[in-house]
Amino acid sequence: MPGNAVFRIRPAQVEDAPAVAKHRVEMFRDMGRIASDDTATALKDASLALIHEWLAGGGYVGWLAEPVARPGLVVGGAGVQLRPMLPRPSADGRTLVAGPEAYVMNVYVERAWRRRGVATLLMEYILGYVRERRLRRVTLHATPEGRPLYEKLGFVATNELRLG
Ligand SMILES: CC(C)(COP(=O)(O)OP(=O)(O)OC[C@H]1O[C@@H](n2cnc3c(N)ncnc32)[C@H](O)[C@@H]1OP(=O)(O)O)[C@@H](O)C(=O)NCCC(=O)NCCS
Repeated sequence: MPGNAVFRIRPAQVEDAPAVAKHRVEMFRDMGRIASDDTATALKDASLALIHEWLAGGGYVGWLAEPVARPGLVVGGAGVQLRPMLPRPSADGRTLVAGPEAYVMNVYVERAWRRRGVATLLMEYILGYVRERRLRRVTLHATPEGRPLYEKLGFVATNELRLG
């Protein structure tokens, strides 16, 4: 069974779009970025339509975690959006790195199930998928809570700047 002795990891299906949208809302809530229930509802509704479309079209690939002892109970999830990328020179300037790039998003674990390795397991699945698909670039924006997890997996800070 994919996962470990305690948690099963399964691919998110189109019918799981509401669970993925919920993770997205709860992730932003935990980040202190949601000021009211109206914002939460608006974010959930607006995200749900796109997540549904992207899951159906393959532009988003997600995984959900369930405790082996509680099948059907989704306790966390994570996904990647496959983003087009123009080819660029590799770090040593000798080869090309071509797209798409995997943008990791919606990494969320229910509070009661944290610090048991669920997010690590989900990220290992994502990195397995990235290797399998031979994707050359994986990016994400980390919360302070998530940062140690990604650093442990080898992610490093980049030169990105942002306006807005
Ligand atoms: C960030 C987040 C996804 C981490 O989820 P998690 O399942 O608790 O993560 P893990 O259990 O894999 O790892 C977290 C810590 O638990 C520790 N841990 C892992 N397995 C453990 C176990 N069996 N017992 C005790 N601790 C354990 C890890 O070593 C890690 O410790 P560290 O932070 O000191 O390095 C979760 O806290 C969350 O959803 N936060 C809110 C949303 C968010 O910030 N998402 C990230 C967006 S970038």
